[in-house]
Amino acid sequence: MLLRIARSREGARITHYDLYKVDLSRGLTVLDAIFQIQDNMDESLSFRYSCRGAVCGTCAMLIDKVPRLACRTQVATVKDSKVDMREPFAAITDIPAGWDSDNEILIEPLPNLPILKDLVVDMTAFYDALETMKLWAEPPGSEEPRLQSPEERERIDRYVNCIMCALCYGSCPVNNSKTEYVGPAALAKAYRFYQDSRINERDRFLTSAKAPTGAPLCELIMNCVRVCPKGVAPGGAIRKIKNL
Ligand code: SF4
Ligand code: FES
Repeated sequence: MLLRIARSREGARITHYDLYKVDLSRGLTVLDAIFQIQDNMDESLSFRYSCRGAVCGTCAMLIDKVPRLACRTQVATVKDSKVDMREPFAAITDIPAGWDSDNEILIEPLPNLPILKDLVVDMTAFYDALETMKLWAEPPGSEEPRLQSPEERERIDRYVNCIMCALCYGSCPVNNSKTEYVGPAALAKAYRFYQDSRINERDRFLTSAKAPTGAPLCELIMNCVRVCPKGVAPGGAIRKIKNL
C-alpha cells in the first residue's frame, strides 16, 4: 500500500508530500505503517503517539481527508470507511497535486492547529481554551464522599469519555475561520461539569460556555459528531447549551 505523507521541514506549513510503500499485513494500522516508514525508510519523519490503543488521543491526524486516530484506523479499511465531512473546510477540500486517491492513503497533520513538523501540531490553542474557561472542579473542602445516583451519572456518561484528541477541533469549519472559538471539546466539557450533580457553582460552566467565544459561534455543522472516536458528540452538548 502507498502512503502519501505531508512534510514540513521548515515547520508552520506543508512544504511537500513524500510517497512511501509499506508492507500490508492483517490488522496493520496507519500508526503501524508510519512506524514502518520511520524505522526502515525515513527516520526524519515526525509524528506523535503514546498509548497505541485509542486512549491517549495523541495520534490524531488527517487520513484521506478525514480527521482520525492513526492507531485506531486500519490501513486496509481506510478507502471503505468514508466519513461525510461537511463543507466549508479549506483544509479538507484542498487536494494536493499528484495524489492518486484510489491507490494512495493521504496522511496530513490535523487541521486548524499550527504545524510544528510533519504530522506534529501545536496543541496550545486547544488546551488554552480549557484553562481560560477553568474547566475543572474545585475541591469541596471536605473528605466526605460526593454520592451520585445512576441517573445523575448517566447525564454525564457520554462526556466523560473525551480523550482530548482534538479531532473535533480539527474538523470544525468555525475553528478554521475564527481563531478565538474555544472549540467543540471545551464546550462539551463545560456542559459535562454543568450537568455534574456533585459540583458546586455549576452555573459558572454554563456562563463560560455561553461567552462570545463559545457556543454562540458554533454553526451546528456537526463535523465534530462525525469524527469523535469516543461518541462524545460535542455538537449535541453545544445545541443544549444554546437552548439553555
Ligand atoms: S470530544 Fe471527541 S473528538 Fe473532541 S477531543 Fe473529545 S474525544 Fe476527541
Ligand atoms: S496513540 Fe494513543 S490514541 Fe492513538
